[in-house]
Amino acid sequence: MTMPESTVKVALGDRSYDILIKPGVLREIGARLSRLGFSRQAALVTNPVTARLYAPTVKRSLSKAGFNALTVTIPDGERSKTLRSAGVILDRLAAARFERQSVLLALGGGVIGDLAGFAAAIYARGIPFIQLPTTLVAQVDSSVGGKTGVNLPVGKNLVGAFHQPRQVLIDPNTLRTLPQREWVAGLAEVIKYGVIADEQFFTYLERHISEIRRLAPEPVLRIITRSCEIKAAVVAEDEWESDRRRILNFGHTIGHALETLGGYHRLIHGEAVAIGMVQEAALACSLGLCTAEVVSRLRAVVLAAGLPADLPRVTFQQLWGAMQHDKKVALGRVYCVLPEHIGRVVILPLDEGSVRQWLTAQSLRRVSSRMSRRRRGGKT
Ligand SMILES: NC(=O)c1ccc[n+]([C@@H]2O[C@H](COP(=O)([O-])OP(=O)(O)OC[C@H]3O[C@@H](n4cnc5c(N)ncnc54)[C@H](O)[C@@H]3O)[C@@H](O)[C@H]2O)c1
Ligand SMILES: [Zn+2]
Repeated sequence: MTMPESTVKVALGDRSYDILIKPGVLREIGARLSRLGFSRQAALVTNPVTARLYAPTVKRSLSKAGFNALTVTIPDGERSKTLRSAGVILDRLAAARFERQSVLLALGGGVIGDLAGFAAAIYARGIPFIQLPTTLVAQVDSSVGGKTGVNLPVGKNLVGAFHQPRQVLIDPNTLRTLPQREWVAGLAEVIKYGVIADEQFFTYLERHISEIRRLAPEPVLRIITRSCEIKAAVVAEDEWESDRRRILNFGHTIGHALETLGGYHRLIHGEAVAIGMVQEAALACSLGLCTAEVVSRLRAVVLAAGLPADLPRVTFQQLWGAMQHDKKVALGRVYCVLPEHIGRVVILPLDEGSVRQWLTAQSLRRVSSRMSRRRRGGKT
């Protein structure tokens, strides 16, 4: 039986490329690279986790196709997404005399993809690179769109370059080894695509969330494909992130604020985005932009995915303060992506008064529902 596969085209003129989603595609890398016409010199950038799980398959395939591949292994984790790690990669490429027709492969999650993509963007003013994303976040988000970069001690993603990959090869089978918490966190970005661009897709998620959570192959292929299509379409309209691309930040204004308040430890990114989406929808509802049904549908699917939806205990000052540091603040105003209905969003500046009013109403609702739960508990 042939396994289903799909291809998404990212239309960016002479920088266009394909995203191929196919179970087992890691075994075909060598043959596919041969067709793209690179020299036989390749570098595989990875970390100890993905190196152990998937590098042998990739290297076997590369050597069968006649590639001479060196491996650069960077320590695991966000803390390795630094200029120093980029320097390690660049030194290895230079020592092996890489030239413009050599190719760099990023095998791993978003950290490896952003870092290796950045090294490829600046080595010899740009060499080709291929994304082999192995987390759901990387498959539906970071590997698509050409944003590469590293962190500085004072902030995340402060140094970077736009550099499109020459191809993205997604093997959904790699998701089977992903820790449950990482896999579920990636679903937040998938739900986001439904809200910002496609109500039908959102309805599909509502109906199939339990199969998706069980990693059933057909729904998983479908959600990766549709997510990549939506991101590709948004990026094709606005490659350099001037305007439209900002709709991808839905859930991220409050999400980033919560990540900051949690000291980057308590919530992982997708969890913070899940809460951010539900709360930004609630805010939109309180501003009269959308109906309460939008909020309840979103909340239900977020919870069914195994993600959190409720705000942790924060004061208005804490939340508003953290929102000011968000990069979506322009000319002193906090901009937020707000749903009008499922499938359509607008980007609007927020004013302090309405956020304060909404958060106060939220807190009051929380207190009163806790009291009524207690009253009900008392009767039984
Ligand atoms: N460039 C963009 O547009 C963009 C978009 C979204 C996120 N990002 C960046 O992506 C990064 C987050 O990416 P992430 O969530 O993939 O984190 P990650 O790369 O740190 O991966 C998460 C963890 O999963 C492990 N892992 C990866 N693949 C695995 C597999 N198949 N099986 C088992 N374990 C595996 C990793 O070693 C790591 O410990 C952040 O740095 C963020 O800034 C970039
Ligand atoms: Zn995100």
